[in-house]
Amino acid sequence: MKWFAQAPANLALIKYMGKLDPKSNIPSNASLSYTLDHLCSFVELEQYDGAEDIWQPLEYHDCVALELAPAAISRFLAHLQCVKNYFNCDDHFIVRSANNFLSDCGLASSASSFAALTKVAVMACCDLAKREVPTIYEQAKLSQLGSGSSCRSFFTPWALWSGNEIAAVDLPYQNLLHMVVVVDALAKKVSSSSAHQRVSSSLLFIDRAARAEQRLEHLVHKLQMHEWEAASVIVWQEFWDMHALFETATPPFGYMAPGSLQILQAVREVWCSQGDGPIATMDAGPNVHLLFRSDQQKLYDDLKLYFVTDYELLSMSF
Ligand code: DP6
Repeated sequence: MKWFAQAPANLALIKYMGKLDPKSNIPSNASLSYTLDHLCSFVELEQYDGAEDIWQPLEYHDCVALELAPAAISRFLAHLQCVKNYFNCDDHFIVRSANNFLSDCGLASSASSFAALTKVAVMACCDLAKREVPTIYEQAKLSQLGSGSSCRSFFTPWALWSGNEIAAVDLPYQNLLHMVVVVDALAKKVSSSSAHQRVSSSLLFIDRAARAEQRLEHLVHKLQMHEWEAASVIVWQEFWDMHALFETATPPFGYMAPGSLQILQAVREVWCSQGDGPIATMDAGPNVHLLFRSDQQKLYDDLKLYFVTDYELLSMSF
């Protein structure tokens, strides 16, 4: 028997960085994300009579061929085991997965792949045990155990994850345009899971949760009031805060590349010259994510052309 599920990536505007409990991925602070419905992971499970679960790349439409490092495969299969334990399932599966975007370079592939794996594993375990599929909330909580940010991918378009609570949140701007300027598509040297541990050595981490919580409150308020520019300023401060944690950890590490700074500077110039612009943010990688309101289609098209011609970018997806 085979099962299939897909799940989208999500982009945090207030970041999950630092954990209270690394075992169950309880975050140090609440986070807010926008779900990127066009960036997806696809996971297929096939029941088989081998002695253990195995992973293989999935060939699926025009997805990028996925190559997972042994550690990433073990982590993926460990999460499958965790879901199986939850449902007392002792069957074995061939797990096949694919992304329709680059993985491992700060494009949130762990969120979508763990969310898709959780969904498909829940489906398979419940089918085999002939029991009802649990609520989306319960599935999101299970997914959090595999990768924290994946719990936000169960809710769209806005998700708020705070401590043990995860839910969709009703905010304006339900149809944002998204562009990611891929400055470097190479796998990142420090994974986000390791970044979560390492940031605690930064002196800036002492007040980090308070800063993030305060920004979250302000951001939600500004979005509710349709104050796009004020929202963009908060999001800008937030990703720089996270990157400052990286750079002030002992030992320091970082993801910012010359190309990232060029893109950010171009975004700042757009804001200065036009009095309007996109929301920019970066995750644990050098690539820059831009969000545009649906009435900013022209700016979106102009920037797309501008980045392609003026910068040596590897590629752009949107
Ligand atoms: C920088 O969810 O990848 O993207 O729970 O260890 O799997 P684990 O970490 P992960 O962390 C994501 C960090 C981030 C910010 C965010 O998405 O909120």
